[in-house]
Amino acid sequence: MSSNIKWHDHKVSHVQRVELKQQKPGILWFTGLSGAGKSTLANVVDYELYRRGQHTYVLDGDNVRHGLNKDLGFTDEDRIENIRRIGEASKLFLDAGLIVLSAFISPFREDRNMVRKLVEDGDFIEVFVSTPLSVCEDRDPKGLYKKARKGEIKHFTGIDSPYQEPENPEIVVDTSLYSIEEAGGIVIEYLEANGYIP
Ligand code: PPS
Repeated sequence: MSSNIKWHDHKVSHVQRVELKQQKPGILWFTGLSGAGKSTLANVVDYELYRRGQHTYVLDGDNVRHGLNKDLGFTDEDRIENIRRIGEASKLFLDAGLIVLSAFISPFREDRNMVRKLVEDGDFIEVFVSTPLSVCEDRDPKGLYKKARKGEIKHFTGIDSPYQEPENPEIVVDTSLYSIEEAGGIVIEYLEANGYIP
């Protein structure tokens, strides 16, 4: 970073923005394999929060890779940069007072922990969507596992690229054990029990 760049404090502080809302902002970070149900779960939770009048924003892998991160692929280096940028973007939405729902494979523990450290304690809620590889591969909603098995896609998470499970996630949900509504309910209950929403 250039030494000629100086940080500006805004006139309206984070605390003042948060006071406008009946919610405690936070980043719900959904991590798990492709096809685990991250985006579906994030969207169900998002809809329930919206229904309750909460101000949210969803960031997810496929969508962000169409815009902000369209220059990135799936090498380890690009995934690290993908998560770094999403972490910073999530932090901006958090600063604006929102509940952010970020759904990315985010396969590396160190990168997820880096995002956790970007924000205050309690602002980062790691949701491990722990659906097993065998179920994700059976679902194969985009046909990508089939292609990866045939070697037509390289560096596919769970096949020839690693996924490091979270060690201390705040929430664990295996979407093969619950209906999507039940899975969403687990996340909503956590937010209620921990004072994020009334
Ligand atoms: S990462 O690892 O966090 O940078 O990935 P993410 O930004 O979440 O993007 C994952 C989606 O990209 C599609 N896709 C791949 N995933 C994994 N490995 C490889 N090689 C790959 N190529 C394309 C895939 O549809 C992922 O979507 P989800 O929603 O996770 O299934």
